Amino acid sequence: MLKKVSLGRSGLSVSCLGLGANALLDPGEAEWVATVNEALDQGLNFIDSAAIYGMGRSESFFGAVLGERRRDVVLASKCGIHVDDAGKVAIDASPDTIRRECDESLQRLNTDVIDLYYLHQVPKDTPLEDSIGAMADLVTAGKVRNLAICNATADELRRAHATHPMAALQTEYSLFTREPETDLLPVCRELDIALVAYGPLAYAFFGGGVRSREDVPAGDAWRRSNQRFQDNAFDHNLALLDELTALAAEVGATTGQLSLAWLLAKGDDVIPIPGSRQLKHLRENLGAFDIPLTPDQVARIDAAFPPGVAQGGARGGHSPQVADF
Ligand SMILES: NC(=O)c1ccc[n+]([C@@H]2O[C@H](COP(=O)([O-])OP(=O)(O)OC[C@H]3O[C@@H](n4cnc5c(N)ncnc54)[C@H](OP(=O)(O)O)[C@@H]3O)[C@@H](O)[C@H]2O)c1
Repeated sequence: MLKKVSLGRSGLSVSCLGLGANALLDPGEAEWVATVNEALDQGLNFIDSAAIYGMGRSESFFGAVLGERRRDVVLASKCGIHVDDAGKVAIDASPDTIRRECDESLQRLNTDVIDLYYLHQVPKDTPLEDSIGAMADLVTAGKVRNLAICNATADELRRAHATHPMAALQTEYSLFTREPETDLLPVCRELDIALVAYGPLAYAFFGGGVRSREDVPAGDAWRRSNQRFQDNAFDHNLALLDELTALAAEVGATTGQLSLAWLLAKGDDVIPIPGSRQLKHLRENLGAFDIPLTPDQVARIDAAFPPGVAQGGARGGHSPQVADF
């Protein structure tokens, strides 16, 4: 069974690994439902959805499949990225939009309360304090239990936390994206805020399933636009896997497991949320918990993947100010 850890000062107890759900969209897909149930059977209780994932379909998926198991889950969702009637995506974290989005999310999730509600992106046209203030009102109204924020800078995290306590910061953090160790993790630790690590497998790079650019499906806009997957950076980044493969063999792990075990070794306040629809991927990822790394092994991995080692930018060309979901 997965270990449980505290999510900042929220009082929530979450599994040390969560389940990223931006691709879990179809409750009719038996394997995806089986993946969720197996995750819960193995003690994973932290599910990461968002209003924008599949334009609401990820939330609806959990609204349909959790049933009685809803009470065993710490259910996270996100607001602030708005899709208009014409399907145009924009960052919109005005108080009115946040209030409306929360009601819509509650309906889709088929629940009375969202355990952890993130501001998905820091808005440019609404003061951050106004957005967080509107979310704090949702806590008062009993629609949301705890607040969190995604893709914030250290200063934005401080401002958000000063407005209402933040239980977590969600940001990209992996062997390819170590920048949070310098600017964000110290602030999280000072303020007792958990760091929820998205993209922990570098969007499947560390899983070993991406050996050529053709392995990225044509419809996968997120990875197709990610600079790390472009021609010039791809071969360089792929070659980095050789070192990871050698290290993984030494500890009897897969490269995906080693990249997750490395994150778990960073502390109980770092919670990776790998996305996986496939049962075999989920099982492999849960196995990362059984690979305790020694400080020496962590140091060797640190040295093999120094900050900036991946080509294509710290976050694959997606800046924290760009819609990034
Ligand atoms: N807040 C934000 O702005 C933001 C941005 C991005 C992501 N997120 C959240 O973070 C979660 C995780 O990030 P992500 O899903 O983008 O990237 P990720 O976890 O690094 O990679 C997910 C990809 O890796 C594959 N995979 C998973 N386990 C694998 C394994 N053991 N071996 C080989 N391949 C494996 C998955 O395939 P299958 O699905 O086929 O199993 C999927 O294609 C998301 O689901 C979402 O909840 C948040």
